[in-house]
Amino acid sequence: MWFYASGHGIMLVMIKSLFIANWKMHKTNPATTQFVRALKQIFLPADQVVVICPPYTALPIMQQELTGSTIVYGAQNMHWANEGAYTGEISPEMLQALGCSYVIIGHSERRRDYNETDETVQRKVAAALHHGLVPIVCVGESLDERNHDETMAVIQRQVSIACHGLLPTDVARLVFAYEPIWAIGSGQAATPEYAATVHTLIRQLTRPEVTIIYGGSVNADNIGQFMQQPSIQGALIGGASVEVESFQQLLAGSTINRI
Ligand code: 13P
Repeated sequence: MWFYASGHGIMLVMIKSLFIANWKMHKTNPATTQFVRALKQIFLPADQVVVICPPYTALPIMQQELTGSTIVYGAQNMHWANEGAYTGEISPEMLQALGCSYVIIGHSERRRDYNETDETVQRKVAAALHHGLVPIVCVGESLDERNHDETMAVIQRQVSIACHGLLPTDVARLVFAYEPIWAIGSGQAATPEYAATVHTLIRQLTRPEVTIIYGGSVNADNIGQFMQQPSIQGALIGGASVEVESFQQLLAGSTINRI
């Protein structure tokens, strides 16, 4: 639990740590059922929020298995429109009807492979909020940008456009996931200090209440070090979230260094 002092005076905000599993394109529905049933048997401390983001096809399984559970779930993407001639797309209303609480927006794999831009991210963020979904807004620099000392400028641009047109009360509801592209799936996580510097910038650009988590090669061995940084409030996890054993170990490891 952490407390923040804002520029507008002392603001006390109780923050839970947030661990989001991004399964990407992994798991059939039988495998999903098996995972979720095993996860439900695991003790999760009350200050940990666990979110599973499976492929769309597994969302009905989530609804079936997790209704009434403290474990929540969300999608990995969505369109901003409610319905229409958008072959292959999924709308916020459809996610809402499946009981989703969260939706990942602007993951770097979507920015890279499916033409997501800062502007489409902005439209999706606004649509998600409008439908009561919490957007998990992914931001992060490429290796080339890092090597050219452009990290802070890239983050500033991505965060500012994602928040464009939102009321401060809406910004306060966002989750930002700082995922340096070079750290994703590479086994080369950012150092906790480096990530913390970027998290501090994101907070300065937004609101004291936003939740900011780190993603990129997070595992059971390094999560404790990330969680020691007061500005890091959780993690967005790819590879280590796909098997229940490694995910459980990561969740257990996250509390080791916490007060
Ligand atoms: P890895 O944890 O596999 O590096 O993936 C991170 C990620 O992209 C989560 O969204």
